[in-house]
Amino acid sequence: MTADVVVVGSLGMDFVFRVPRLPRTGETLKGQSFSTVPGGKGGNQAVALARLGARVAMVACIGDDANGRSLRAGLEADAVDCRAIESLADQVTGVAMVAVDDQGQNAIIIVPAAYGMLSPEIVARHSALLDRARFVVCQMEIPADTVAWTIRHARRAGAKVVLNPAPILGPLPQDWLDAIDYLIPNEIEAEALSGIKVDSPVSAQAAARHLRGCGAANVLITLGAQGVFAATSDGGERHYPAIAATAVDTTAAGDVFVGGFVASLASGGSVADAIAFGQAAAALSVTRHGAQTSIPRLEEIMRKGA
Ligand code: RIB
Repeated sequence: MTADVVVVGSLGMDFVFRVPRLPRTGETLKGQSFSTVPGGKGGNQAVALARLGARVAMVACIGDDANGRSLRAGLEADAVDCRAIESLADQVTGVAMVAVDDQGQNAIIIVPAAYGMLSPEIVARHSALLDRARFVVCQMEIPADTVAWTIRHARRAGAKVVLNPAPILGPLPQDWLDAIDYLIPNEIEAEALSGIKVDSPVSAQAAARHLRGCGAANVLITLGAQGVFAATSDGGERHYPAIAATAVDTTAAGDVFVGGFVASLASGGSVADAIAFGQAAAALSVTRHGAQTSIPRLEEIMRKGA
């Protein structure tokens, strides 16, 4: 199977604490429940792509441990091509502490461990995958030099480059911006990248316009309950209101949007169709708990009529 989409990114285990509200500094808070759930922004996006109809491969690093084996088995069960997921003998699998409050909002701490060791050399070992892909998707939980290498290589090979700049560490280098076909930040990331406070479709329009002016071909800013603002390479600017949903857990909603968006583009959809499809998938995911456990399948979106 040749993958249409290759995700180069993080794959980790989420340790999820349900809490009435997020804790304050110095506070001890009693939680309601605890669970371990497969996660990592890269893994979530790969699973979303696979469940939503794309042929996808992932390049990642896990530890040689129970969490790593469980994550790999989960992706394989979803038909993600895992041959480029390397198991590192001297590392533990990356983890995240995810606190989710009664409103479904979260706060996350990540410890990259093995996925922090995903180097350009490791990705280069799997460059044949990138050479055949039509879309290459990255996030920023892995080392920045690996993202830089991947973007450069994918661009040279003729793939469309999608970057979800999460978590954001600072401004993006100019050569990244020039190589990105679809930049998909949330409001916090868009603000960090543009210097414009983003809290509404109007301010998102200004930030998206600014980021397009900096070089990114298409900019899609996700605004949670306020929808998505897109500024596209044809000069179009449009706000897509959110689909109403009763959120129990917003963890990975952005990842599901990215996965749905790219899956739809890969199947020949227009940017507008792909945004609507990503939104439909994300709206379903927030009604369920966890990261990869919340990701819907294509049939469910079809049943909803998206
Ligand atoms: O985007 C959600 C993800 O961020 C979680 O699954 C967690 O692993 C962190 O990487």
